[in-house]
Amino acid sequence: MSEWVDACAVDDVEEEDLIRFDYDGKTFAIYRSPDDDFFATDGICTHEHAFLADGLVMDYIIECPKHNGRFDYRTGEAKGAPVCVDLKTYPVKVEDGRVFIDVA
Ligand code: FES
Repeated sequence: MSEWVDACAVDDVEEEDLIRFDYDGKTFAIYRSPDDDFFATDGICTHEHAFLADGLVMDYIIECPKHNGRFDYRTGEAKGAPVCVDLKTYPVKVEDGRVFIDVA
């Protein structure tokens, strides 16, 4: 079952950047790619407790601010030590200038 949540405005996220989005006690990360597509993942690193929104985006990679672990934010794939557990990803849709994620 889907649970679409209005996360932010399209313009809240700059190109090649991300923002943190908290909902129902969980933290998500919303990304805007160089191609102007939007993606969503869990907002906390799978290695230790670090908010990915404090990290850096390069192309399709989010680099964790704590130990520089990297993930492909399109798939959540962990790209090597120290991160070995993939990030969970969430479906995203854009409607009327708003970004929705399916948090279910
Ligand atoms: Fe993210 Fe260690 S907490 S790489």
